[in-house]
Amino acid sequence: MDKKKVYITRRIPDEAIELLEEHFDVEINPEDRVLLKEELLEKVKGKDAVLCLITDNIDKEVFEAAGTQCKIFANYGVGYNNIDTAAATESGIIITNTPGVLDDATADLAWALLMAVSRRIVPADKFTRNGAFQAWDPMMFLGRDITGKTLGLIGAGRIGSNFAKKAKAFDMKILYTSLKQNPKIESELGAVYVDKETLLKEADFVSLHVPLQPSTIHYIGEKEFSMMKKTSVIVNTSRGPVIDEKALVKALKQGEIWGAGLDVYENEPDIEQELLDMYNVVIVPHIASATMETRTNMGLIAARNIVKVLTGENPDTCVNIEVLK
Ligand code: DGY
Repeated sequence: MDKKKVYITRRIPDEAIELLEEHFDVEINPEDRVLLKEELLEKVKGKDAVLCLITDNIDKEVFEAAGTQCKIFANYGVGYNNIDTAAATESGIIITNTPGVLDDATADLAWALLMAVSRRIVPADKFTRNGAFQAWDPMMFLGRDITGKTLGLIGAGRIGSNFAKKAKAFDMKILYTSLKQNPKIESELGAVYVDKETLLKEADFVSLHVPLQPSTIHYIGEKEFSMMKKTSVIVNTSRGPVIDEKALVKALKQGEIWGAGLDVYENEPDIEQELLDMYNVVIVPHIASATMETRTNMGLIAARNIVKVLTGENPDTCVNIEVLK
């Protein structure tokens, strides 16, 4: 019997590919870039499963192009706002994501950004490399204290709570706002649930950990920046459109906030030009989960989901569970 066919839209760590190759005919996009829509439509044709990335826009047209034999699109990422899940369900296609394995890596990067902005690591590094360091200077690269300050956590799911756990080691007071209250971080970390306005007014650091959905688009905009402390730092490792990027530029320019650490952007990969020129902003290219271990584990979750579905079992991490009924 012919082996089932799996398409991978861009190279991922070998372990995951090897697992899929044990069972199926696997084809991988050989180009080191995101596929164009017409290429994606062509490549998914006739496949039984697709392992796609958060940079692939997966909609009804893609499901139709894949064909009725296609059972699963396994997204390589925890966020799946790139996929029209309602259209998937309509087409009887299972969508899975990769929750859990990237919590530490993502929370770690959020901390790295928070620290880099607060202690001015990037401009200080540049200054030192450029040979500008002449002598210790009492006023050189003054940053902001972290220990003992107030953290405002927006979103207290897996990644948000992981980030909060690390804040405890810095003796921070933790305020949070979230769709649902999280009793665990309240009892274990002393986190206090507050409304958005209180959080923005009292936090020294605001870190975003919400999924992108209609209610979180521009969750932080002009009004919100105007409520924040002038000394505050905002960190975004969730999704770019959660922050109104133009409002962020304005807030930074007008000194409404002190700095920003960004992993994600409103119109990725494009970034507001002015952000690129600001010394109090640290910007990295959507690398929160980019550690070898994490990216391997993400691949293995996606691959196992495909193996399970194509051998008649339910996947481990389905996001449109109604399709399983
Ligand atoms: C995700 O998984 O959603 C991240 O943004 C990429 O790791």
